[in-house]
Amino acid sequence: MKKSIGIITSGGDAPGMNPLIRYLTRALIENNYEVVGFKNGYRGVVNNEQYKLTYDNVAGLLKRGGTILGTSRFPEFKTDESVRLKAKEVLENEGISVLVVIGGDGSMRGAYDLSKIGVNTIVLPASIDNDMYGTDETLGMHTALSTIQDAVDKIKDTASSHDRAFIIEVMGHRSGYLAVTAAIATGAEGVFIPEVETDVDELAKRLRKRYEEGRRNSIIIVAEGKASAYDIAKMLKEKDIGYDIRISVLGHIQRGGIPVFHDRLLAFRLAMGTLKAIFDGNFNVLVGVKGKEITFTPLKEAVARRKKLSEFLINSVYTFRWED
Ligand code: F6P
Repeated sequence: MKKSIGIITSGGDAPGMNPLIRYLTRALIENNYEVVGFKNGYRGVVNNEQYKLTYDNVAGLLKRGGTILGTSRFPEFKTDESVRLKAKEVLENEGISVLVVIGGDGSMRGAYDLSKIGVNTIVLPASIDNDMYGTDETLGMHTALSTIQDAVDKIKDTASSHDRAFIIEVMGHRSGYLAVTAAIATGAEGVFIPEVETDVDELAKRLRKRYEEGRRNSIIIVAEGKASAYDIAKMLKEKDIGYDIRISVLGHIQRGGIPVFHDRLLAFRLAMGTLKAIFDGNFNVLVGVKGKEITFTPLKEAVARRKKLSEFLINSVYTFRWED
């Protein structure tokens, strides 16, 4: 009898989940496994809502955003052990030997809790936030940054026409990764992230100087984990920076769209890593990438540690001026 592998996408969706489902399903089928998807994350496992994944029905997924399996946030999975036991029972009854969880931090915790009651799990990091320990990159981050870059470039056009400063809020949960890297890529004048204190007076002086020099736009990027764009705008309005101020909260457009090249490549690497973990019987790990290597971090370690923003990015906030 063929061995069955279960797959779910869980938590916030991320562009690249669909390519990952496609690479993984085909790689597993070619290696003689049966692949069972469950709908809407852990909820679908508990309710045994299956989505049979075949070689053919994953065609065309490389260029599709979102996840065909659907996803959900399912807090009961974290809080209620009887829910997790139900999931275990379903997996056992269906003959599924490993559950592959594609998702972010919260989903990884769910997988760790399942592993503690005897379910073999493998976690593949997928989140636009790039905030997971055990991997340089999380799936979706590249596409989100390309969306943010595009949006900020566009906002700059209108800002320049009107002599305006824009406060642009980006996602990232508790991490400033998206905000600081987007600030670098778009030539923002300032950034607010949870990891670093921004000197508001110094920033306000710089904005005032730019305004007086006749520079027709200024862009400030705010990580949602630090403050809201409205709060920052209120603070800057009190400091007489010259510019008229407008706000843009980019919101969920950051989670959609056609996965860019780097997310597809990352999806492929994570799928290959999963295959290796299954062949080696190396379960309850997070498959990640570090430079050119594919890595395997025990879930116990990955849930206990927090990914820090690199020194290089922290220093970029203090030492570089990105403005153009
Ligand atoms: O973790 C991904 C993420 O997009 C965060 O950046 C954001 O804080 C959160 O999910 C939003 O979640 P929801 O779509 O449930 O509102």
